[in-house]
Amino acid sequence: MKREGENISNLSSENQIEYIQQKDEFDYLKCLIDSVDNGTCVGILLHGPPGTGKTLLAISLAKCYDASYYIIDGSPDLDRRDIEGNWELLKGETKFNYGPLTMAIKDANESGISFIIINEINAIRENEQISLNSLLSESHINLISKGFEKHEINPESKLIILGTMNKGVTGINKLQEAFEDRFIICPEINYPSKNKEIEIVSKISGCNGKVAEIVVDTARQIRKQAIQDFSLTKIFSTRLIVNFCMLISKMPPLFLKNNIENVIINKLGNTPEEKKSIAMILDGKMFESKIREELHEKKQHNKLIMEENLEITDENTNKIIFQTKKYFQDYIDKYGIKNTFRYNGFVMWKVLHWMWMHNRKTFQQYIKLTEMFNLPHQYKKETGKTHIYNGDITLSYIRWIYQNNLEFLTKIIKEIFPIM
Ligand SMILES: Nc1ncnc2c1ncn2[C@@H]1O[C@H](COP(=O)(O)OP(=O)(O)O)[C@@H](O)[C@H]1O
Ligand SMILES: [Mg+2]
Repeated sequence: MKREGENISNLSSENQIEYIQQKDEFDYLKCLIDSVDNGTCVGILLHGPPGTGKTLLAISLAKCYDASYYIIDGSPDLDRRDIEGNWELLKGETKFNYGPLTMAIKDANESGISFIIINEINAIRENEQISLNSLLSESHINLISKGFEKHEINPESKLIILGTMNKGVTGINKLQEAFEDRFIICPEINYPSKNKEIEIVSKISGCNGKVAEIVVDTARQIRKQAIQDFSLTKIFSTRLIVNFCMLISKMPPLFLKNNIENVIINKLGNTPEEKKSIAMILDGKMFESKIREELHEKKQHNKLIMEENLEITDENTNKIIFQTKKYFQDYIDKYGIKNTFRYNGFVMWKVLHWMWMHNRKTFQQYIKLTEMFNLPHQYKKETGKTHIYNGDITLSYIRWIYQNNLEFLTKIIKEIFPIM
C-alpha cells in the first residue's frame, strides 16, 4: 500500500532486488536482531555515502523476516502527526488515521516483528526525533493528538527501527545527542571493494561482467578525483553505476552516447566545469569506445549478426526508427491508441497490417531490425521458410512473429526500437 505523493509508505515483499553484502554486514545485523530481547524497540543507524545500498539493506532485512515494514522519508516537512497518526474530516465525521509508528507496533504485536525504515533520518526535525525517543527507550508511544492513547510493544514481539543517513554531509538538522544515543549500533556502509562492486553491479543490473568492470573502474577513478581536488561535488555512487549499466544493456548501443551524457555527466556535474572535468576523465579512459566494443562483442557472441546487405549502423537504425515512428504516429492519430494496443498492452494485428498496406518499405526495414534477435533462425527452424523474399521481409514472417512472439514484438515497438 504505497501512498503516492506522500513520504511514508508501507511495502509488502513484492520488490525483488536483494542486497548483496560486502562482507558480513547483513549476517551481522540479522544475528543482532535475533539476539535482542523481545518486548523492545531497537534502533540501528546505518550511515555512509549515498547510493551504497543502505535503504536496500534495511528492506532486505525486513524481507528476510517476512515482516511488514514502513518506510519514512525524512524531511523537514515531516510532522509528528504524519508518523503518529492524524485526524481526518470525512463527510462531516472525524476519523483517526494511525501513522506508521502505531501501525508498525500493531504489526509487530500480531506477527512478532516489524520494521520502520527512516531514510535520511537526520533530515527530520528535532520534535519528530523526540517522538521516536519514547518508542526507542520505553517501547511505547503516547498519541498526543488522541488523548495520549498508549501503544506498546508486547513482551513477545520486537520492533526494529532502521535509520539511514549520510554522516559526512550535514543534514538539514543534526541528530540530537539523546536521540542518536538510543540507537544501539551505528554500522558504516561505505563503497564496496572493486571486485565486490563489479559483482554487485553485474548481478543487480544484469549487464555483462566486462561492462561492469569498465564502469566500476572509471567510477572509482572519478571518486578518487573528487576526493583529491574537490573539483567534483557529487560522488559516483554504486546506485548510479547500476542504473547506467542497466540502461546500456537494455537499450540499443546507438543510445550509448546519450546515456553517458544523461546518466553520468549531467548527473554528476553541477557546473559546466564539473561536466568538462568528468568528460575528460571518461575520454582519458576511452570509456565510450571500450563499452561499445563490449556491447558489440556481446552481440556477435549471441549470433546477432546482421545480413550482409543491410549493415545496420547506428545511424541507419536511427533513421528507420524515426521514419517508422512517424507512420506509426499517423496511425495513432487516425485511429486512436485504443485501436493500437489491446487492453493487456500488446500491439494489435490491424496496426501491423495497416503499416504493411500503407508504408510497406519502411515497415519492412523496421521489421528487419529483428534480425538482431535470432528471430529469423527460429522462424526458419519452425516453418522451414526464410524471412526474406527478393531482399524484402515477408508478410508471413511478420504474421509469424505476431502469432508466436507478440510480447517481444510489443517490447520492440515500445522499448527496444521505440516508435511511440
Ligand atoms: N550492496 C548492494 N547490493 C545490491 N544493490 C546495491 C548495493 N549497493 C548499491 N546497490 C544499488 O544501489 C541502489 C541504491 O541503493 P540504496 O539502498 O537506495 O542506497 P542508499 O540508501 O545508501 O542511498 C540499489 O537499488 C541497488 O541498485
Ligand atoms: Mg537511501
